[in-house]
Amino acid sequence: MKEKIIVLDFGGQYNQLIARRVRDARVYSEVWAYTHPLKDFEDPSIKGIIFTGGPNSVYEESSPHIGKEIFDLGKPILGICYGAQLIAYTLGGKVESAKEREYGNIAFHQIGNCPLFEGVPETSQVFMSHGDKVTVLPEGFINSGNSEHAENAAFYDAKRNLYGVQFHPEVEHTKYGQKMLENFAYSICGCAPTWKPENFVDEKIREIREQVGDEDVLLALSGGVDSSVTAALLSRAIGKKLHCVFVDHGLLRKDEAKQVEEIFGEKGPFELDFHPVDASSYFFKKLSGVSDPEQKRHIIGSSFIDVFQEEEKKIGGCAFLAQGTIYPDRIESGLGISAKIKSHHNVGGLPKNISFRGIVEPLRDLFKDEVRELGKVLGLPDSLVNRQPFPGPGLGVRVVGEVTPEKVHIVQEADAILREEFAAHQIKASQYFAALSNMRSVGVKGDARSYDYAIVIRAVLTDDFMTAEPVNVPYELMCRISDRIVNEVPGVNRVLYDFTSKPPSTIELE
Ligand code: XMP
Repeated sequence: MKEKIIVLDFGGQYNQLIARRVRDARVYSEVWAYTHPLKDFEDPSIKGIIFTGGPNSVYEESSPHIGKEIFDLGKPILGICYGAQLIAYTLGGKVESAKEREYGNIAFHQIGNCPLFEGVPETSQVFMSHGDKVTVLPEGFINSGNSEHAENAAFYDAKRNLYGVQFHPEVEHTKYGQKMLENFAYSICGCAPTWKPENFVDEKIREIREQVGDEDVLLALSGGVDSSVTAALLSRAIGKKLHCVFVDHGLLRKDEAKQVEEIFGEKGPFELDFHPVDASSYFFKKLSGVSDPEQKRHIIGSSFIDVFQEEEKKIGGCAFLAQGTIYPDRIESGLGISAKIKSHHNVGGLPKNISFRGIVEPLRDLFKDEVRELGKVLGLPDSLVNRQPFPGPGLGVRVVGEVTPEKVHIVQEADAILREEFAAHQIKASQYFAALSNMRSVGVKGDARSYDYAIVIRAVLTDDFMTAEPVNVPYELMCRISDRIVNEVPGVNRVLYDFTSKPPSTIELE
């Protein structure tokens, strides 16, 4: 019997991240909606439950609530932020709007010896984001920590194994957050650190077979990490019933279409039914005159579906469409109850008139680095597994404003120079690229005035792509890249480096 911890989703931005941090502790974890039937929680393999944060206030009637019965199951429960307030509120404590909203890195001071904080210094940095606070604890609970503006920043009832923390242990800014989650999983829930990412393979293969039966599946293969891992998984699960369609939308990096064909095509090492389609003129026509980022994303997304449908007609008999959607794609597209940041092209489901019966997204709950681990377990080459991510809408979201073949060409050339230089100088970055700002400015080239575009260089370090920091690129290298781009790429007279972190910025420009 596999031990697991259930993360109960109350609409926070970090809900899958909590599950992922528990999996990092080698204990299996998955996210369930807060409306999930109570009887399923009786499963003895469920060793503990975590209530997530959420944007609501517990004292408002329309907020997500939960029945008291869950506390009678006798399972350890950890409430995070809204989840902590919910525990207090449901069991008779008091939650009120705080005069001082706490946001960001805050000092947390422990009180007493709460087992959740075993091995954590008395004062440590935590990440807070709340407007409400617990002012009166329910009966049986004691206060186990505070911060400047939250007197009950942590509390627990040792007898019933119920714990609440106002801060977010799952985010990296909470210095000892992983330790706290491990304390919860190991000493409070009694789980052993035995789960491995390899277990995902069997789990996912079983899920895929269950979903598609003996139907054929059409996969949108972009050659990126996510869709390649999806291809490997599906190929293991259903073999020849998998058909891979590679759409060149004209928004790929320089020479990328050629490289993808080399890897996945007939002459490559994989035995896949591979269908390359050059649809660039279709995409450029659809994007002509459109400059709004969300509209561009939607056009690219729906054009993909158009092309797949056309291809599906030729292949014939594919009941399902598979995609390499991963968790951050979904969370930032604002599915469920969290706030929408941007619509990732592969999110949102199928239009009503589509001929596919359903959608297969085996990586939908995984983070990028988990997908890479899965890729390695599936035997994909390191060069493919460690590729930096490339968004589905491609250079469409790296050309700010209207997309034209000319602008895409400029980005492709600038990006090729950047990639060549970063590789030659072995710059460590999780993702780096050139983008075309919509800004044109005055310059001087060979004694003449120029009025050309500015290229933006973006290079970030990140583990999970939910937060990111700019890379400290050596100054001399930046000058060299800038010189090369303005000299070798017509139409560019300025190169800028994007220094912003995510948040508040995102990684892509649109
Ligand atoms: P943002 O720009 O949201 O990007 O900070 C986070 C990560 O997701 C990639 N990205 C996408 N991937 N479809 C994808 O498959 C998309 O529509 C999309 N938009 C952004 C981005 O490259 C980064 O790695």
